[in-house]
Amino acid sequence: MNDAASRALVDAFGDGVATAVGVAPGRVTLVGEHVDYVGGHVACMAVDLSLAVAVRPSGDGWWRAAGLGQRVERPEPVMVGDIGDRLFAAAQALGRRDPTVPPLEMAAAGDLPASTGLASSAAVILAALVAMLRLAGRRVTAEELVAVALTAERDIAGVPCGDLDQRAIVHAREGSVLALDCATGSRRRVDWPWPEISVLVVASGESHDVGGREYRRRREAAERACAFLGVPTCQQIGERWRELDPGLRPRGRHVATETRRADAAVQALEAGDVRELGRLMDASHESLRRDCEVSTPRLDAMVEAARRVPRCHGARLVGAGFGGSVVAIVEREAAGACAAALAAVSGVTGATWLVRPAAGLEVTAADVFAKADARS
Ligand code: GLA
Repeated sequence: MNDAASRALVDAFGDGVATAVGVAPGRVTLVGEHVDYVGGHVACMAVDLSLAVAVRPSGDGWWRAAGLGQRVERPEPVMVGDIGDRLFAAAQALGRRDPTVPPLEMAAAGDLPASTGLASSAAVILAALVAMLRLAGRRVTAEELVAVALTAERDIAGVPCGDLDQRAIVHAREGSVLALDCATGSRRRVDWPWPEISVLVVASGESHDVGGREYRRRREAAERACAFLGVPTCQQIGERWRELDPGLRPRGRHVATETRRADAAVQALEAGDVRELGRLMDASHESLRRDCEVSTPRLDAMVEAARRVPRCHGARLVGAGFGGSVVAIVEREAAGACAAALAAVSGVTGATWLVRPAAGLEVTAADVFAKADARS
């Protein structure tokens, strides 16, 4: 991965000096979607698909970026709506803390697909930040790295995301699921208990856009529901979603029930109850479809197809929705059949992945961290 990014940099902009590389994994949410921005609980993991970013100082003061077969350059690292935005946002965000960040040339490469609900946007920003920290020989705490990545994505790139992706990518550990409390940032890890159960991701072929209007509207509705009920996070809503106006009630019910489902998913993992985890994933999809309204007919059809495959225990859309992918948990021997069944519905070939819970940056990029975070 490191080599691919360094090669991409040379291919795009020619030879140069002092290249540093950062690599960041993608993430899969098991249960707990569209709750992070109102302080909900999430069961998630980093996965063994990743993006690498190579960076080096620019010889002439221009900012350059390459990725997804494109090359861009400009005199300032501003957002213009192209493939440079996330990389330049990372540089700007770091530059707010460290004014010595020089103009850079950067290139991204890797096997984590874009626009599939696997947090490629957070991964490219974090990979770039790790590379820039290495180039400068600087260290940060895990909390600072999460904060800088969120500044890049929210304040500079303008995507109103929560902190699920950044925390999963930073704090995850190989072989375990991360139980995150997005109200406090606290977390614990639960081992993935089933060697015989695979986590399958299949892209729908419909590209999603977290920065889009609909994502922002879901976030605003969830925030309004909490504000109306006078609660700081969706964890305190309980059954009180019933008090909301009919227009807001489904959104309130989604966040109230999804955060509880995430808790139940962690209990199912601890109890080794794969059927219960599958049932919770199915229920999560239903809530995302009916109450949050972020599914699409194609995602629904893929989820239905997964449920018809014997020995598939559960399936749901993953990430922000409006397209992206479906994640399913399926017994290993049935994973190929399940992938084929979903790909037959999506009509997309070559877009199925069996993923494993992978280590996050605290492990894979330990050299950029100032000290172990107290909660890690
Ligand atoms: C995207 C956002 C996350 C989260 C999910 C939905 O991945 O970046 O913050 O809101 O959607 O759970």
